[in-house]
Amino acid sequence: MSNGWDRDRPTVCVVGSGGREHALASALARTAEVIVAPGNAGMAALSAGEFSCVDADPEDIDADLWVVGPEAPLVNGLADRLRAQGKLVFGPGSDGARLEGSKAWMKEILASAGVPTAGYGAFDAEGPAIEYLRSLPAPWVVKTDGLAAGKGVLVTDDFDAAVADVRAKLSGAAFGAAGRQVVVEEGLVGPEVSVMAICDGVRAWPLVAARDYKRAGDGDRGPNTGGMGALSPVPGAGEDVVDAVMRSAVEPTLAALRDRGVDYRGVLYAGVMLTAAGPKILEFNVRFGDPETQVVLPRWDGDVTAVLAAAAAGRLDAAPPITWSSDAAVTVVLAAAGYPDSPRAGDAITGLDAAAAEEGVQVFTAGVGAAPDSPADASGLVTAGGRVVAVTGLGADIDAARSRAYAGVSHVDWPGLTYRHDIAAPSPAGNGPEVATPR
Ligand code: AMP
Ligand code: GLY
Repeated sequence: MSNGWDRDRPTVCVVGSGGREHALASALARTAEVIVAPGNAGMAALSAGEFSCVDADPEDIDADLWVVGPEAPLVNGLADRLRAQGKLVFGPGSDGARLEGSKAWMKEILASAGVPTAGYGAFDAEGPAIEYLRSLPAPWVVKTDGLAAGKGVLVTDDFDAAVADVRAKLSGAAFGAAGRQVVVEEGLVGPEVSVMAICDGVRAWPLVAARDYKRAGDGDRGPNTGGMGALSPVPGAGEDVVDAVMRSAVEPTLAALRDRGVDYRGVLYAGVMLTAAGPKILEFNVRFGDPETQVVLPRWDGDVTAVLAAAAAGRLDAAPPITWSSDAAVTVVLAAAGYPDSPRAGDAITGLDAAAAEEGVQVFTAGVGAAPDSPADASGLVTAGGRVVAVTGLGADIDAARSRAYAGVSHVDWPGLTYRHDIAAPSPAGNGPEVATPR
């Protein structure tokens, strides 16, 4: 283990390049020197010296703590390789990351731990998958077994579409190898909530709940995306709901992992549906949510670095308590033309500085690149991914936070910019079948 902790400000390497990593870097930078590897051109332009971005292999960076943002490097063993070099890492090894890397394995773990979740079958052949679909009432749910950037899930009221999706996934046409096995699930109904917990292998400490808006369009229409916006706190999902999720899902899962010899240190993220029969787990992710992090981290007003370092060391018992601002937070994701199917790159972005200058607004960049030969400020930035920017507003209540977020959004523009106009709007929203069902 590195031993920089007697220094005033430890150095933290944040691995990743999205809005989640931008929000992590901002929060960690309150109490640490932060290097983001590689970050993106927007982060570098907006950070104002708060942290730095380095396009280097995280294994070559000198730091006291590594915080790995995205799932892919975790599934591919980055945390294992860093730990093998004696480094302090917040993020599970590839054994624990399999929870997100294989939905079939996750379902097996949940079943063995007695965690409430949708009934399911895992299939690598069409016939049995379709037969199982036939046995279920609508809505039908078809998921890729492997990683698909939040886009591998179809929830539909159209049986034929579900069958076509099974075929497209299993044939490899839709998601390549990630779809060669599919998980078909019983459709659950209810509002959704994301509960993230900081784990040290044995103990798990919850963060405040957040809600993600997964559908591309207003009124929860259109395809699933990586997430088009988020809010925290979530009306109806206070401490009691978080406690219920911790007791019924997070703690038993951590114990089941431990029973299998998995020392899980990192975030365990439960995607939860609040059904009439109580909270049920839709999925586990093995990292902070995106865009949930862009609303949860700005509300965390304590020493984030100390908590993540303690978890990485297996010593959450020695960490300072997690404390929260009473402010609400709302984030609106601004996406490139063509997202989620085929986002267009290269569109010139304007207004990020003006958005960030609004009171109570923070701007987190994701799919942002620099135009060739552009200056190192926000004037030469272009779209370079699907979800381009998340604009977070903080305020005394959800209405105030939402107004601030959209006030920030109003400054930002590029050709083909799309976003949802109903994030955190008073009418209930969240997710539903392809045709939105009111609730
Ligand atoms: P996942 O990536 O597994 O969380 O799925 C993405 C989204 O699909 C979830 O946030 C839900 O809105 C929806 N979903 C997933 N599983 C189910 C299910 N069993 N029943 C209804 N909706 C689901
Ligand atoms: N916002 C959903 C996720 O991070 O997977």
